[in-house]
Amino acid sequence: MESLVRSQEYLIHFLPTLNPELRTWGKMMWRGVIREFWDFLPVRKDENIVTLLEGNTPLIPSSRIKKEVIPGIELYFKYEGLNPTGSFKDRGMTVAVSMAKEMGSKMVICASTGNTSASAAAYAARSGMKAYVLIPEGKIALGKLSQAMAHGAQVIQIEGNFDEALHIVREISETKPITLVNSLNPYRIEGQKTAAFEIIDHLGFVPTYHCLPVGNAGNITAYWKGYKEYWEKEKAEGLPRMLGFQAEGAAPIVRGKVVEHPETIATAIRIGNPASWKQAEAARDESEGLIDMVSDKEIETAYVMMASLEGIFCEPASAASLAGVIKLNQKGFFKKGDVVVLTLTGHGLKDPDIAIRVSQKPVSLPPNKEAVLEYLCL
Ligand code: F0G
Repeated sequence: MESLVRSQEYLIHFLPTLNPELRTWGKMMWRGVIREFWDFLPVRKDENIVTLLEGNTPLIPSSRIKKEVIPGIELYFKYEGLNPTGSFKDRGMTVAVSMAKEMGSKMVICASTGNTSASAAAYAARSGMKAYVLIPEGKIALGKLSQAMAHGAQVIQIEGNFDEALHIVREISETKPITLVNSLNPYRIEGQKTAAFEIIDHLGFVPTYHCLPVGNAGNITAYWKGYKEYWEKEKAEGLPRMLGFQAEGAAPIVRGKVVEHPETIATAIRIGNPASWKQAEAARDESEGLIDMVSDKEIETAYVMMASLEGIFCEPASAASLAGVIKLNQKGFFKKGDVVVLTLTGHGLKDPDIAIRVSQKPVSLPPNKEAVLEYLCL
């Protein structure tokens, strides 16, 4: 231990003085959301931190969509697909698993449409805890399933949907010594609010609108909490208006009633009875925003646009917010100069099946230059 401490000190203090290029390395290294936003988060013992150095994701200014599709507004993408397991869940999971460790828990459990299970599995593996994940059978994207399996979680497929799986894990965690790491766990919300901090830190001001897809409604709750905390601590000069988007076939908040059989191509948000329903409505109403819905066709169009016009590969659920912004813009909702930040919640590689389904198929040619040239008409 002592030699480890010494070698870290060497890296941070001594090495940079030898090599001028490394001079700022010790200071610049991102330390994960708990250490970076220590004053805003509940973990109290450094040795309990379970981190994959999540957070610090890029806020990418739009290039072609801004010019070709939605002129007049300033559009930014908070690309959460670049977190360690490829989704925003890692921000919440680092706090939930660290707190589980702080409280002496040895097991975590969750229901998931895929990303929560991937993140829970990874953070549990890192901390030496056992992870149990319940997923809706046949309705989870391949990349997410492969992650949960690779990280050694016990994967249980339920012949039902996410809402039913969540009901089961809630009941189990209430009676057994196992920590629930769905966003009902308040530490998940605490971690996820840090994305709002980063947006203000990176932009230098508060955006006019913040847009994101809504499934179980934890993330919209978390962002709103984050924006409010930065404002209360005078680190921000105002608040954005929150715009949430559900898929038409899974839009309980928009329709004002539980959807018994939710359906959408955006499997991540295929949820009919969100756990944080009330909090999402509060975020909408307090911020004077709205929660609307978009069709699968609109989601697919936005998904293709993100990849082909911006070079940013996100999963279908993430594209729901762009679909929503396009729809609102067509109705003249935005004013010139509005700054609109869109959270891209998960990486496109999570769901390779849909990418292959909606894209141009590759051709097969014989292995010679002439055949290729002929095909290319060059
Ligand atoms: N986008 C992606 C990629 C998601 O995985 C989720 C939720 C959401 C948006 C919606 O976020 O639930 O906080 O409103 N995925 C959960 C899961 C339900 O199990 O991975 P939310």
